[in-house]
Amino acid sequence: MLTKEFSVRRTQAMRDQLLEITDELIDAMLAKGGPVDLIQDFALPMPSLAICTILGVPYEDHDVFQRHANVGTDLTISHEERARTLGEAHEYYQALVERKRREPADDMISRLLSDHEGPDGFAPEMIPALVGLLVGAGHETTANMLGLGTVALLLNPDQRDRLREHPELAPSTAEEMLRYWSIVSTDPRRVAIEGVEIGGQLVRKGEGVIVSLIAGNRDGRAFGAGEGECPADRLDIGRSARHHVAFGFGSHQCLGQNLARIEMQVAWPRLFERIPDLRLAVPEDELPFKKNSIVYGLTSLPVEW
Ligand code: HEM
Repeated sequence: MLTKEFSVRRTQAMRDQLLEITDELIDAMLAKGGPVDLIQDFALPMPSLAICTILGVPYEDHDVFQRHANVGTDLTISHEERARTLGEAHEYYQALVERKRREPADDMISRLLSDHEGPDGFAPEMIPALVGLLVGAGHETTANMLGLGTVALLLNPDQRDRLREHPELAPSTAEEMLRYWSIVSTDPRRVAIEGVEIGGQLVRKGEGVIVSLIAGNRDGRAFGAGEGECPADRLDIGRSARHHVAFGFGSHQCLGQNLARIEMQVAWPRLFERIPDLRLAVPEDELPFKKNSIVYGLTSLPVEW
């Protein structure tokens, strides 16, 4: 029901709007002057503004949904705190959905209500949870990728310069970053609906399988095996990495992948074009990588220029 909303055509049509969002955020960083936290000032608001625009969620309320998304992925949070935050967020989404019911607009929440609510679609009580899922999945993941990809380009200046000189490498850069970082650690779980042999291992009907996306994406037989190719554990933005599994695989693979791709394709070339001497404002070994989250990323990224 939702794939049309995130089709290649729909998301490609957002390119100019994404570029505008990117430019405004860069303008604000430049006006503020370094050092700034690239996560708070760029990596988080860029995808957040995009998903809010698509859904019709007021971005001014970002405190509510960013806290919600954070709590949803942070493994150190207590059950009580998680329940309280998720409860607050649910109330927020319920009120928002009711508002859209009364005053429909040209946005995805309104289309969900008019086209997909009912006996053949979503039950009314599912809609607020679905909106919450899309807001959370729509910015928390891409935000982490934008932060990590920026670090990778800063730490590999040859790759950064290559992208700057060849902006047409933006699509392969996005695929390579997705492969290289493999940020989602809640690996897809599947149940065999019939017996199948995979890699010499028989999986019987009804047995479960947990697939490690990270292991697949760093598998030297799938990446870097050819003559002269860059090994799988190294970054090569010119590599053809489109067969990675960072978005999962099969009918439940990531719904928002086209959107995430275009956000990354727009963000990195523009960032390094407009701030060519962007650099880390702290030593590499002081970068705060998330250790207790189901989505890998950085809690902050101090940069200057
Ligand atoms: C770089 C960013 C992203 C990464 C790495 C990512 C990764 C993933 C992964 C690994 C899955 C599980 C797939 C599986 O079980 O096979 C998934 C599912 C999903 N993602 Fe993403 N995602 C990203 C961005 C987004 C965005 C922008 C949205 C926005 C709507 C989104 C919405 C979803 C939804 C709704 C599902 C569940 C799909 C289903 O079960 O049918 N994701 N994503």
